[in-house]
Amino acid sequence: MKTEADTNHSIGINIGRHRLQSRAFLAPMAGITDLPVRRMAMRFGAGLAVSEMIASDWLASGDPSALLRAEGEGVGLHVVQLAGCEARWLAEGARIAETAGADIIDINMGCPAKSVTNGQLAGAALLRDIDQAEQLIQAVVTAVKVPVTLKMRLGWDENSIVAPELACRAEAAGIAMVTVHGRTRAQFYNGEADWAAIARVKSEISIPLVANGDLLSYEDASAMRAMAKADAVMIGRGARGRAWFPGYVGRYLETGTIPQDPSLDMQRDVLLELYEGWLSQYGIARGVREARKHIGWTLEAAAHTAGRTSDEVKAWRAKLLAESDPNRVRHGICDAFDDFAWKQAA
Ligand SMILES: Cc1cc2nc3c(=O)[nH]c(=O)nc-3n(C[C@H](O)[C@H](O)[C@H](O)COP(=O)(O)O)c2cc1C
Repeated sequence: MKTEADTNHSIGINIGRHRLQSRAFLAPMAGITDLPVRRMAMRFGAGLAVSEMIASDWLASGDPSALLRAEGEGVGLHVVQLAGCEARWLAEGARIAETAGADIIDINMGCPAKSVTNGQLAGAALLRDIDQAEQLIQAVVTAVKVPVTLKMRLGWDENSIVAPELACRAEAAGIAMVTVHGRTRAQFYNGEADWAAIARVKSEISIPLVANGDLLSYEDASAMRAMAKADAVMIGRGARGRAWFPGYVGRYLETGTIPQDPSLDMQRDVLLELYEGWLSQYGIARGVREARKHIGWTLEAAAHTAGRTSDEVKAWRAKLLAESDPNRVRHGICDAFDDFAWKQAA
């Protein structure tokens, strides 16, 4: 499938020897940004598409599911995100990812999940101990030849905003780019991301700064970039069902012109190609299950393009998500899009 985004021009952000093609990235999202999704986002022109978080000791154990998350065939610039609280495992995980083909290693210091921050000091819990965070960064940077980047939140809570200082230390330790989600860990996903607070990081570093949190529209992208004084933006939930969105946002940031959504035919073809990707990535049984949430999000996006309401998607979603036979799902996807197209034309 041709994606119209194969215009391979680059913008002024370098990570190591890599020159990025866009200022808008796909955020790492566990359970969502698997290989088929990252591959598609990059084809549509995303500057980067970061893998799902992988616990470094899990990767070091050789678990097949962890190795699957670290795959990057066909992605182009391949970024593997690692989480962990022990230098030896993070270093070992980074070496394994590098050997498996990662072009960039990203360290997660933003995950708020209790399973990650409790007991073990990992994810956003590291924002409570930035000396330890700095040591872990140094261990990873030393372990690999590829560039290492860092993703974090503003701090643990509103009384401990450590992002500016940690970013400064991270740069000194050799980190090549910093992404900041404009929330504290205490906020989880509540409230609004504070884009202006991200800007306080900018004055502390000379490496590229990426702003993240609540970017849902093209207007958000320019506002976020200006308020956060960021070199680039990173999109998570806003890209669900819209693998093309980060690439389109990047194009908008370069040209100032809001691109039209891809045609319904193209959105259908994207979903069909992703569907084959999930089946081959996970095998039929798991692939059918993994695909379901994406089908729901994609139908929502298509309904929006067609000027339809969420209610009109419900029946299609219920039908397709109950289906286990891949052939029937493929046909159902085509029927759903035909229905949207017919209503769009009516
Ligand atoms: C379902 C889900 C899974 C996520 N998994 C990860 C992850 O593996 N690594 C990470 O750094 N952030 C993860 N995040 C956080 C996102 O990367 C991003 O920082 C956050 O969603 C805010 O951006 P957004 O408002 O554009 O979604 C996850 C978020 C969601 C919603």
